[in-house]
Amino acid sequence: MPLSDALRPLRGADADALDRLFNDPVVGRYLWDGNKVERHVIDDIIKQSQANFQQHGHGLWVLDDGAQMAAVAGLWPFREEQSLELIYAVAVKWQGKGIATRLAHSICNFAFTELGFDVVRASTDAPNRASVRVLEKAGFEGTDGKTIDDKPTLFFERRGGATVPYAPGAFEVLTP
Ligand SMILES: CC(C)(COP(=O)(O)OP(=O)(O)OC[C@H]1O[C@@H](n2cnc3c(N)ncnc32)[C@H](O)[C@@H]1OP(=O)(O)O)[C@@H](O)C(=O)NCCC(=O)NCCS
Repeated sequence: MPLSDALRPLRGADADALDRLFNDPVVGRYLWDGNKVERHVIDDIIKQSQANFQQHGHGLWVLDDGAQMAAVAGLWPFREEQSLELIYAVAVKWQGKGIATRLAHSICNFAFTELGFDVVRASTDAPNRASVRVLEKAGFEGTDGKTIDDKPTLFFERRGGATVPYAPGAFEVLTP
């Protein structure tokens, strides 16, 4: 099936597909620390994403391939301080094809040009080398490293005018 060239906002009807994606052991290894993501959590994520789009103009976007959810990505509030960070997950079938880098690049462009952000932040478990590499390729720079919940965590940011070492084709970013 062909990959969409647009990112569309996550919607209620995506619950089954998001459940499959997040509960894939490869995808959930770092994103969910290998824990099962309960259905009520999936439903809450969808509701929060929809509310965030309403209130702030951003949330989680889906990349479809016509048969399944190829990826989900967006800007999400993390930790107690609810700091907004870039997040992405790509279905195993689509990994290793540059999709996460394109997602990161597309959402950064949207944040800078449509939302007026000066900076987009991200963090990742230090052992998640694929995620670190995605951020490097998408023009992020490391800013900090901390142990959070016993896990070494690396922090990154990309500023509006940053040079992007690998300039992948951007997806169109749709809004509700
Ligand atoms: C991290 C993830 C999003 C990457 O998606 P992807 O579409 O495969 O990423 P890309 O193809 O754009 O780039 C991956 C890069 O990591 C590299 N890579 C992959 N596995 C690696 C590993 N174990 N060690 C080092 N580099 C690795 C790839 O070679 C590639 O770099 P290259 O282009 O220089 O060769 C995907 O693996 C995923 O969904 N993981 C689960 C969810 C997750 O951990 N999300 C991040 C937390 S927000």
